[in-house]
Amino acid sequence: MTAGLAAGCHAASAPDTETRPGPVPPTGIHQAGITTPQQPQPHLLIVTADISVAPGPLLAELGRRILAMAAGTDARLLGLPAGDLTVTVGVGPKLVRARDPQLPGAKDLPPAAHEAVAPSDRGGDLLLQICASDPLVPPIAAAALLAMPGVRERWRQSGARGPHVPVADGVTAPRNVLGFIDGIIGPHTPAEQQRDLWLPGPAPVAGGTIAVVRRMALDVARFAAMPTAAQEAVFGRRRDTGTPLSGGAIADGPDLGAKTPDGRYLVPADAHIRRAHANVVGAGLMLRRSYSMDTPAPGLLFASFQNDLHTFTATLASMEAADALLPFTTTTASGTFLILPGFDEHRPLGSTLFPA
Ligand code: HEM
Repeated sequence: MTAGLAAGCHAASAPDTETRPGPVPPTGIHQAGITTPQQPQPHLLIVTADISVAPGPLLAELGRRILAMAAGTDARLLGLPAGDLTVTVGVGPKLVRARDPQLPGAKDLPPAAHEAVAPSDRGGDLLLQICASDPLVPPIAAAALLAMPGVRERWRQSGARGPHVPVADGVTAPRNVLGFIDGIIGPHTPAEQQRDLWLPGPAPVAGGTIAVVRRMALDVARFAAMPTAAQEAVFGRRRDTGTPLSGGAIADGPDLGAKTPDGRYLVPADAHIRRAHANVVGAGLMLRRSYSMDTPAPGLLFASFQNDLHTFTATLASMEAADALLPFTTTTASGTFLILPGFDEHRPLGSTLFPA
């Protein structure tokens, strides 16, 4: 190593030359990592695990570790700056049922079509959604968080997001591995989030939400071989601009009644944005926060947050009836989790649900 390089490597005042994104507060009435940061970080790691100890003390300890990591005071991050690290914690239906089978989050996700899910890749007691701009931070944080007696990892998946495209004031969305802008429609305003995203109660779950995570392998080669117009018919939006095939701006919903002069729907009957449309489904909006992935197969690590599991199951049922996108997908891991209410130093993670 040259003297110059050595000096550069050991410059104590500036060990990293890139500007790093600022911290995301881990405390509040909701956990971080769902509506914060406003633009999701480029890297994600989802880890699910089973637990064989009482959930209360375990979750409280997880919360303490998350606070320490976010504050940059946890040696387990191995000296890496936490940057915009967020850790979002959920518990699986079995744990919720054991507490109270009537609570939101107590229901399992039913099996669906186009699935090839090994038993080990379905469900789990614990979900950690770990996001950061620095790709090294999520796996190091995961190792530190999971190193606890009574925690056995189930399945994990990392994902990444490309550059974000502006959609509306304060709303951006990335492209997915099929080239389309993904994450346009959702509960983006505070009023929509109160209505469709956050659980208003009962008290043990107030401020939480319901997550669905699904690893979906995509037949990218078959999709890419189709002409652009055929690809756009699958989604119902333009690939380049993201605007609906019925016209308007990117942030607009589709005009589902609009037809060509010869009477065909501009947004085809089996287009994804028609089959998944809240009015067609008859359910609320879901906040989609999906990441793309390249291994074990190119695809989408789908993640949605909603205050009623029915929003997801009814949407999937509508898609299964006639969605041109579904035949390109094979779901290979799947689970639903109750995202715990927000927490802080005085209100430990999970304490509203499980005694510590
Ligand atoms: C579990 C399966 C899925 C569900 C429940 C789901 C749900 C939704 C919903 C609710 C919308 C908004 C529809 C609207 O009102 O316009 C949407 C749109 C969209 N989805 Fe999906 N989706 C699923 C799978 C996928 C997959 C596998 C991809 C791509 C690889 C995808 C890409 C898109 C795109 C590009 C849009 C249009 C833009 C947008 O509104 O974000 N979705 N999806």
